[in-house]
Amino acid sequence: MSAIIQASPLEKLPQEPLPTGDSCLLIIFGASGDLTKRKLIPGLYNLACEGCMNPEFEVLGIGRTPMSSEEFRRKTGEAAAKSKDTRNFSESGWAEFEARLNYMAGDINDPKFYPQLRARLEEMRKNGSSANHLFYVSTPASVAGPIIEGLGAVGLNRSDRGWTRIVLEKPFGRDSESANALNDVVHGVFDEKAVYRIDHYLGKETVQNILVFRFSNSLFEPVWNRNYIDHVEITAAETVGVENRAAFYEETGALRDMVANHLLQLLALTAMEPPVAFDADSVREQKVQVFRSIRPMSVEDVARFTARGQYSSGGIDGRRVPGYREESGVNRNSITETYAAVKFHIDNWRWAGVPFYIRTGKRLARNLTEIRVHLKPTPQALFAAASPVINPNVITISIQPDEGISIAFDAKRPGTQMRTMTVQANFSYQGSFGSKGPVAYETLLLDAMRGDATLFTRRDEVEAEWRIITPIEEAWAHFPLPDFPNYAAGSEGPTSWHELVRIPGKTAEQAIGQGK
Ligand code: BG6
Repeated sequence: MSAIIQASPLEKLPQEPLPTGDSCLLIIFGASGDLTKRKLIPGLYNLACEGCMNPEFEVLGIGRTPMSSEEFRRKTGEAAAKSKDTRNFSESGWAEFEARLNYMAGDINDPKFYPQLRARLEEMRKNGSSANHLFYVSTPASVAGPIIEGLGAVGLNRSDRGWTRIVLEKPFGRDSESANALNDVVHGVFDEKAVYRIDHYLGKETVQNILVFRFSNSLFEPVWNRNYIDHVEITAAETVGVENRAAFYEETGALRDMVANHLLQLLALTAMEPPVAFDADSVREQKVQVFRSIRPMSVEDVARFTARGQYSSGGIDGRRVPGYREESGVNRNSITETYAAVKFHIDNWRWAGVPFYIRTGKRLARNLTEIRVHLKPTPQALFAAASPVINPNVITISIQPDEGISIAFDAKRPGTQMRTMTVQANFSYQGSFGSKGPVAYETLLLDAMRGDATLFTRRDEVEAEWRIITPIEEAWAHFPLPDFPNYAAGSEGPTSWHELVRIPGKTAEQAIGQGK
């Protein structure tokens, strides 16, 4: 049982105004896709409403679907009005914003398209558009290479009249080999300084706050190591299923979709050493050091320290939902995992012996992303006679949906006996600041427009992430086929987390979620 102590609320602060982006023309590849409608355009609309958009900002959306700019504006407007990322949608606000949106249909796999694109950009320039070009590749990873080469072939990779940058969406490749090959293509065309590999988790306020929490307070850093910390859990649970992304998800799966990027980034921010400064290279350098310290997994380790699952039909929020294999576009015998769990070991001075448990899944009981840092129990059970159970302290960094931080500790229960009870000190963004701040894409798009790469991933980071994930994918491909589906939609996952990963002495079959 726990009681709540509300940490004293800070004064309600007015939200700080965001800085203004450089003038720029944002060219989005994959503009008729979901991400553009649900995330990018809403993020841009928010920036415009906040007054952070340079008056000389425009979008050129590129997609395979033929449509006029007017139709593109109407479709993105309808989607923006419904997106949970849009703040304060209004008809008048949208009418002002949509004038900045343009569309061009084209086949990005056809080399003949790129001279046409160049001509269109030149024409826009003559009509007053900015000479600063921000390319945004929001397409499947397999077409990122041809787009980059196409831009290079017509000289759109640099310009004497303004800056040129490129944002690359995840997944960045699908294993070490393809990521390295894609990086080689990128570097054949663009300088690393112009490349912004996006991991939208890094744009979340609560994720950025991990560094502030750790390095702006003297209270936590002294205990943030193997002497005081027993283990760390990082969880990203979602109630949504595969939605309308079956083609993407079938070839991606939970490990590549969530662990290879978002969750490894959370792990890196939790485990990294303090950077010398809060700038792109200093922060990214420390994250790479963490990735390099993660123990590479042998096939036996994969069998012991990982778990995977796939959901069957079940109930979520009182409604019946289909199993993964029944979702439209999914192979009826699919062996794609929709749940992945991994126990990582970080072999460095700070973390040796402290396991990091990472798990993620679709169609789970709750929507929850959090980091739980479990401290070691006190050396002596001084109050054991009256309260036999010792509850070690836990620091919970809640990334979403209830953004905040809570610390669980023991207090004396009122009464004549010396009995203890676990209570919590809670900090909530909403309670203390009255607002949640900008959404992730808003922050990241603005950073890319301003040339700040601190919250983007560097080449060596992405390659290091794949070096950690690829052995797991390879071992899974050789293990006997899992007995999928092995968890019901709306449940906590394949079996309990502890049985799957924590408890030593499991057989390989049990460890990978196939054992009974
Ligand atoms: C995306 C994944 O990168 O992140 C999705 O492709 C996942 O499968 C999403 O649902 C989760 O993002 P958020 O911001 O809702 O936690």
